[in-house]
Amino acid sequence: MIESKPSSKDRDESDAFIDAELARQREQALVMWPMERQVLTSLGLVDGMRILDIGCGPGTITARIAALCPNSPVVGLEPGPSLARLAERELEPCPHARVHRGSLCSNQLEAASFDFAYARFVLQHTADPEVQLAGALCLLRPGGTLVAVDADDGLFAIYPEPPELAEAIRLSQALQHARGGDRRIGRKLPALLEQAGFGEVELKATALTSSDLGRSTFARLAVSFRLNRLLEKHGDTVRPLADAVERFLAQNQWYGMVCILGVRGVRP
Ligand SMILES: C[S@@+](CC[C@H](N)C(=O)[O-])C[C@H]1O[C@@H](n2cnc3c(N)ncnc32)[C@H](O)[C@@H]1O
Repeated sequence: MIESKPSSKDRDESDAFIDAELARQREQALVMWPMERQVLTSLGLVDGMRILDIGCGPGTITARIAALCPNSPVVGLEPGPSLARLAERELEPCPHARVHRGSLCSNQLEAASFDFAYARFVLQHTADPEVQLAGALCLLRPGGTLVAVDADDGLFAIYPEPPELAEAIRLSQALQHARGGDRRIGRKLPALLEQAGFGEVELKATALTSSDLGRSTFARLAVSFRLNRLLEKHGDTVRPLADAVERFLAQNQWYGMVCILGVRGVRP
């Protein structure tokens, strides 16, 4: 069985890059959580359910789910050893939450033992999302719900868009693709859930704009991480491109929007 690439923290990347990426993911999680908790509740999350946070990373969202559902056993599933350790620390104050080390297709969790599973920005990093989703289906009891949330670069726009920004986005998509991921997975999620055997599939979309977040936060969360990944991978060859994009974002009037797609499916 093909396993997903390990997380950024557990790949061969510099400490500075990893720290910046973790800080960005944390900021993104905190910005999105108020909206996200409403989406999760509207898609069936109820206190008392047995909850699985798939690919929980450093546990920022797992801890918030645990606080929202104090009567639920909550498990964060994480394959990256360093991220799992961070999540364990984050969950220390929550006695009803724990981390399980493993991935969707390689873990020691009991089949059919969860009522609700959440995969947040996980499937875009996998080479085989349909296989991973079949793993999620097995972990849910019949009638259990999966919610998968992910991005889709086709639903991301900044205008005006200088050519350097278009090029940086193209290069960052190619980089993720080369690592076995997919920055356009959002639109594919409903079909992928159906192929994996989920029923009652439902698609929701939430837009975030530069007016909602403020330009500098939007730029940090939606653009700068791409530049950092390119710099980490290609070094100084992409420095002029990255500098041109950062200069444009800092010095010009522009508007941006990004669409986050959430899909829900039920195990028949
Ligand atoms: C971008 S991080 C998202 C972390 C967290 N869900 C969040 O939104 O803050 C992607 C996470 O998915 C994990 N991951 C990748 N492939 C996985 C798999 N097959 N099963 C479970 N987790 C996986 C990675 O280790 C990483 O922690």
